[in-house]
Amino acid sequence: MDLKKIKELSNKYYMNVFHRQNICFVRGNGNKLYDTTGKEYTDFVSGIGVNCLGYNNPDLTKAISDQAAKLIHSSNLYYNEEQAALCEKLIKGTIFTKMFLANSGAEANECAIKLVRKHYNLRGQHRPVIITANGSFHGRTLATLTATGQESHYKIYEPLPSGFRHVPYGDLNALKNALTDDVGAIMLEVIQSRSAIRPADYDYLVGAYALCRSKDALFILDEIQTGMGRTGKMFAFEHHGLQPDIVTVAKGLGGGLPISAVLARGDVANAFAIGDHGSTLSGNQLACAAASVVVDKLKNGLLEEIAQKGEYFSGKLAYFNKYKFVSGIKGLGLLQSVELGSALNGNYVAAQLLNAGVLVNCTKQNVIRLLPPYTIEKSEIDEFCEKLDDIFRNTNL
Ligand SMILES: Cc1ncc(COP(=O)(O)O)c(C=O)c1O
Repeated sequence: MDLKKIKELSNKYYMNVFHRQNICFVRGNGNKLYDTTGKEYTDFVSGIGVNCLGYNNPDLTKAISDQAAKLIHSSNLYYNEEQAALCEKLIKGTIFTKMFLANSGAEANECAIKLVRKHYNLRGQHRPVIITANGSFHGRTLATLTATGQESHYKIYEPLPSGFRHVPYGDLNALKNALTDDVGAIMLEVIQSRSAIRPADYDYLVGAYALCRSKDALFILDEIQTGMGRTGKMFAFEHHGLQPDIVTVAKGLGGGLPISAVLARGDVANAFAIGDHGSTLSGNQLACAAASVVVDKLKNGLLEEIAQKGEYFSGKLAYFNKYKFVSGIKGLGLLQSVELGSALNGNYVAAQLLNAGVLVNCTKQNVIRLLPPYTIEKSEIDEFCEKLDDIFRNTNL
């Protein structure tokens, strides 16, 4: 099918919820994607932080095809070897003791919210409130979009579930004032990264954690985007030495297959009883076989590689601070961003990069968000920086 036909069918039959670029990828290899005309692009989006091993990774492809030939899905009515093996890999050596597998980030967060409610229910305590931060993003189910601290996401879906309280991100005092006796948990992102990249500072996160401990509230970290190695550690909270009660991960976990996880420790890890939660497709053999490859690679050298490449990337990006219209370079590991001031539109820059064969994600009109596969080469980072420099230089601003 050519692009015109694909667009015609999509626009006719798919609900109108996505703002799509005028492009369709048909194949990928390494860190490159190829469109319907055969044009090659170096990928600094990785399917929004998902395709962490790039494309056509031989180990991932083999594990998926071998598993597909063996057994794709049997349901959670039965034990599942690939699921059991993945859970051991994910939990062993961490602070966590039990986990649940889901299919998306929103579902993992939804599960975390339910887990907190069940935990206090078991203790006979009325603590239904979860505090989240303004500007956060936690998903698009009714509960997770209510948790999301962005009014534009939830206003149109009222009435909303109750039990969520939003506070300014980074303001420890606001967090302290909001932490009343009915609060069961604080849920934060280590780095807000759905649109602009906003790392929380160390004092804020450690302070939030201490507040939870002092009030016997639970501390949840949404690491849907920052987890599974993206920042150079398995979980971004490890940079701060935190010990959350619950962490949620998704995105890169399946290397492209839909799978997410909720990891918990302490009493809350044992709060669910049979029938309290579930999902038909979650943790099926195919998704778990893929995730096992990702976790094995992370544990066998890939995390160190991400950390090194991340330092290299942020070092190279720092050069762009010399441009007056660049208002900030932010990020950690292979989650980076170039923020532009009002003089230059980010969509223009992203379109120019697309012409030059580089894929980036522009958010909020002014943030060039960069989430390359973990397999990105230093030479590809150099090439990206040269192309961005050409574009910036030619703006004559
Ligand atoms: C921090 C965070 N939480 C939750 C989600 C929701 O994940 P999903 O789109 O897989 O439901 C996202 C998605 O971007 C995210 O970045």
